[in-house]
Amino acid sequence: MCGIVGYVGTKEVTPILLDGLTRLEYRGYDSAGIAISAGDELVVRKTKGRLAVLKDLVQGDTGVSGNVGIGHTRWATHGEPNDVNSHPQESRSGKFVVVHNGVIDNYLELKNKLLRHGYEFISETDTEVIAHLIEYYYKGDILDTLIRVQNKLEGSYALGVLCADAPDQITVIRKDSPLIIGECPHGKIMASDIPAMLKYTRDFYELGEKETAVLTKDSITFYDINKEELQKDTFHVDWDIDAAEKGGFEHFMMKEITEQPRAVTDTISPHIRDGKVFFEDLPLGFDKFYITACGSAYHAGIIGKNIIQQLARISVETELASEFRYANPIITENTLVIIVSQSGETADSLAALRYAKDKGAATLAIVNVVGSSIAKEADYVIFTNAGPEIAVATTKAYSCQLAVFYLLAIHLGTERGTIDAEHAARLLDELKEIPAKIEKILGDKEQVQFLASRHYAAKDVFFIGRGLDYAAGLEASLKLKEISYIHSEAYAAGELKHGTIALIEKDSLVVAIATSEKLFDKLMSNVMVVKARGAQVLGLTWEGNGIESTCDFALYIPKTEDVFTPSLSIIPLQLFSYYVASMRGLDIDKPRNLAKSVTIE
Ligand code: G6P
Repeated sequence: MCGIVGYVGTKEVTPILLDGLTRLEYRGYDSAGIAISAGDELVVRKTKGRLAVLKDLVQGDTGVSGNVGIGHTRWATHGEPNDVNSHPQESRSGKFVVVHNGVIDNYLELKNKLLRHGYEFISETDTEVIAHLIEYYYKGDILDTLIRVQNKLEGSYALGVLCADAPDQITVIRKDSPLIIGECPHGKIMASDIPAMLKYTRDFYELGEKETAVLTKDSITFYDINKEELQKDTFHVDWDIDAAEKGGFEHFMMKEITEQPRAVTDTISPHIRDGKVFFEDLPLGFDKFYITACGSAYHAGIIGKNIIQQLARISVETELASEFRYANPIITENTLVIIVSQSGETADSLAALRYAKDKGAATLAIVNVVGSSIAKEADYVIFTNAGPEIAVATTKAYSCQLAVFYLLAIHLGTERGTIDAEHAARLLDELKEIPAKIEKILGDKEQVQFLASRHYAAKDVFFIGRGLDYAAGLEASLKLKEISYIHSEAYAAGELKHGTIALIEKDSLVVAIATSEKLFDKLMSNVMVVKARGAQVLGLTWEGNGIESTCDFALYIPKTEDVFTPSLSIIPLQLFSYYVASMRGLDIDKPRNLAKSVTIE
């Protein structure tokens, strides 16, 4: 996720761009840049680092003066944060300059085509491909060119483009990434998000999927994919700037929960080609995996172990990163150690990575932050494209980690022949449906909110499940305790009778995660046992599997293949934790004693 902004009008553009980017910094902050139309020349200034570094760079720089410009604040996806990979990206001749928010899935294919036509690339970004592609197709009309380029791009994008031949306009297109356009008294403004523009206007247009708009000082013209002109109405926004940064949500956590469908799509789609999973350069041939991580990333690893073992029949062990070095793991040259981390900076995870490398293991990092220490030091990296996560309690990064494990398990299973092509295709089809199913769950928050209102005063909550349901319960329990401060434990349902059942008393809340058809009956026997001790049971199962007769309360998720249930069951349970914490009046985004990135061992 990145932030883009653009302005064309009668005012000096640089302060407007920098001000807008300040308001978009929550969308990415590893580098930033601007481009200004100065006569027949496009001037670019960009740098690695936070926006403050860019502000220092352009301070007193007379070269960046004009009334038309675009800007970008980056959250790296392709290529580490450095000056060259920062946006704006320029075409070969410098005639076109592009800022981009999104992920181009087919950028390698397009890059190879352009390489064959003699184009050279100086950055590792997917955006440079767009800049060159515009130049490749340009025949004198930037609008025509962009509509043509749009047809070549797969993935998500919101693009702001400057063309030296049309110095008084900005052209924008978008698909699956947001882009809003504002009318101000002195010009037109566009941005990824409303906060960047609230200082200048409260009336906005939304650019639709695959639509294009041309912004000049006096006009905004909208076009559809066939270059037919479109008429649009503005909408009015009353939010204050802080609320707007959270997309109108009260907390970043809720914003990030709702971003999960997009985040999962952006994570999986770059690795799907021609109906198959694809990983560039990822070697096979290991006979043993370790997965090591902390917190929620560790819980994702437990699910990863289960599905890799099921689908690819490779032996996998999970170990907490803080324990890995002391467990004397058995590492050979055929061992792959997978480190999972949102931040890529967690001290214990980094130490585990270094230990594994030292012992001769190959290492693979599943990381959200490009350019982070773990991403840089691991032999191989798969990025989760969740975008910046601000709430301490992770939601979207965790969902993306699961998505990577699904891709990995399907890929390994196919390559090792432990699943046949038909099975792999079926699993991949279902994986592609997961974002829509998450969206469906998010569309029905009221039931979760109602259940939270019944239970927000609970003293203890127990999550029980078997197999993947148990693993999902570990994460659900962590979410609840992190932000609501309610004591909570997750238990493998069959293990309850060996101790924890002693804690069950009248009205204890037990959340029974029962999404596996195979294990359903067994789990219901455990439910009967806790009910007999007076527990109140909240059952979570698939739609159509009425459990009101066994459980006191019920939550439902759309039906999916058993292996994918953790991606769905966690969603209502994230919401449950959120609403419980909210009803307890707690600081949801910054829970006590916790930090987003833990850089001490
Ligand atoms: C902290 C965060 C957790 C996170 C864990 C691992 O404890 O509060 O949400 O799961 O660190 O962080 P990482 O960045 O390595 O995923």
